[in-house]
Amino acid sequence: MPEHVGIDLGTTTSGLAWIKDDGTPEIVPNSDGERLTPSVVYFDKHEKVKLVGSAARDGGDPGRTVFRIKDRMDDPNYFFEIDGERWTPTEISAFILAKLRRDGSNLIGPIDKVVITVPANFNELARKATIAAARIAGMEVTRIVNEPTAAALYYAYREDISGRVMVYDLGGGTLDVTILEIGGNGNVRILTSEGARRLGGNNFDEILLAMYADQYRDITEAELYSDERERRRCLHAVEDAKKMLSKLRTVTDTVGNRQIGLARIELAREVFEDAVAGLLTRTLMLVEQALDSVGLAPSDIDHVVLVGGSTRIPRVRDVLARKFGFAPLSCGNVDECVAQGAALFSKHALSVTEVCNQSYGILALLENPETGEQRVRNSIIIAKNRTIPCSHTQTYLTSEDDECVIVIDVTQGEDEDPRYVDIIGKLTLKVPPGRPAGCEVTVTYSYDENQRVRASVLDHLSGKSTEVDIDYHGKGVLNEKQIARKSSLLRQIRVE
Ligand SMILES: Nc1ncnc2c1ncn2[C@@H]1O[C@H](COP(=O)(O)OP(=O)(O)OP(=O)(O)O)[C@@H](O)[C@H]1O
Ligand SMILES: [Mg+2]
Repeated sequence: MPEHVGIDLGTTTSGLAWIKDDGTPEIVPNSDGERLTPSVVYFDKHEKVKLVGSAARDGGDPGRTVFRIKDRMDDPNYFFEIDGERWTPTEISAFILAKLRRDGSNLIGPIDKVVITVPANFNELARKATIAAARIAGMEVTRIVNEPTAAALYYAYREDISGRVMVYDLGGGTLDVTILEIGGNGNVRILTSEGARRLGGNNFDEILLAMYADQYRDITEAELYSDERERRRCLHAVEDAKKMLSKLRTVTDTVGNRQIGLARIELAREVFEDAVAGLLTRTLMLVEQALDSVGLAPSDIDHVVLVGGSTRIPRVRDVLARKFGFAPLSCGNVDECVAQGAALFSKHALSVTEVCNQSYGILALLENPETGEQRVRNSIIIAKNRTIPCSHTQTYLTSEDDECVIVIDVTQGEDEDPRYVDIIGKLTLKVPPGRPAGCEVTVTYSYDENQRVRASVLDHLSGKSTEVDIDYHGKGVLNEKQIARKSSLLRQIRVE
């Protein structure tokens, strides 16, 4: 039985890796003979089967196909409705994981325990949904690890680098920038992470598709596609052309539709790279933000390492080289290193020190020291970039007489202004009546190594306390019973 298995559940592609008996990590191919599996699920109309991977991506009705479900993992209200059934992001991800597990198990033996990676800025809800998806697919998650952390472990192992390292991970759907230190002994200490959702290769594809459509219109005076199925087909062609442009300076493609006919499209790398320059500048702003948040300058960084398929675009390397004054390092298999790093993590977890990626606090009535005015503010209890696991406590005073229930809003976010933070849960504590305002209550937040938050409140006067595992008001988070039921349902569905 394989002891150390890691899974990179990506927006566009997913991969599974294990640690072989000789201690080296290796990607386990799927049953379609591919090292990575497209994260796409197809719901067939006729057979009770779910296709996952290339077959799902390349064929069939787009209305029955789910792409990029990872973008939705933090949305408790999203579901995909088909044939009168509703499927949540957790269940759809479970199909992808079920294929990875089954195909992998066929090659290396039964896979029951895994380390799964998530983007550094994935919130609590998305992390829980990922754990639930794995459990529905029949695997225990020993640890959830941030993708850049896994990638850093892989680089530390493969390239034998040490010092202060920036991981720049530009994948299909997300950008992650992480600064960390790798010690001479291979220990990794995370300093900070910044991330942007919906910034990656998919955006480049859309820009390139618009360029294709313009050229096609100029030549034929007609539209390149007229429905979603044709648009998907074009997007596929465009993605292939984008990959070629990473190797060639110009690409000629033939595209078209049956009614109007075919047209030859000419593309130059420079024109494409100019068109995505604005997005690349956005990625550099995130780099700047990450450096700022730990008080570092580009000259303080010893290595920049590349992760994610989109870092194969030459301009990406150029802008980073210009920013740092030296060339970034690429291990070549930039879309496989997160899965391999996850497997390494499973074996060497103790050598990694992580920080929390968000601030957590409560809404409290605070006084403006200058004006004396009282306003509801976000009072941070655990600040971003604190080393985890950790636990922090703060004491507050109740604001009203005769309070019978203390209700505390749990926040996630950096801003002092409540409008710019998320309320992710509530702490409710019943207290004996007849108390004056100004009673002391202590709020304690603890943050574990899976980046999950627990909150507790203690009322000093009555000695009563309560603790919650932040559950986003119960929405979208499955309990044990639901997971077990969905897991047995999934076993009855054929996943190919
Ligand atoms: N040679 C290449 N040139 C340009 N882009 C490429 C190349 N190879 C792959 N890509 C792009 O890389 C993206 C996929 O990268 P990767 O597999 O690292 O992403 P992911 O892990 O699925 O996404 P995320 O990390 O955002 O969840 C796709 O958008 C793909 O088009
Ligand atoms: Mg990725």
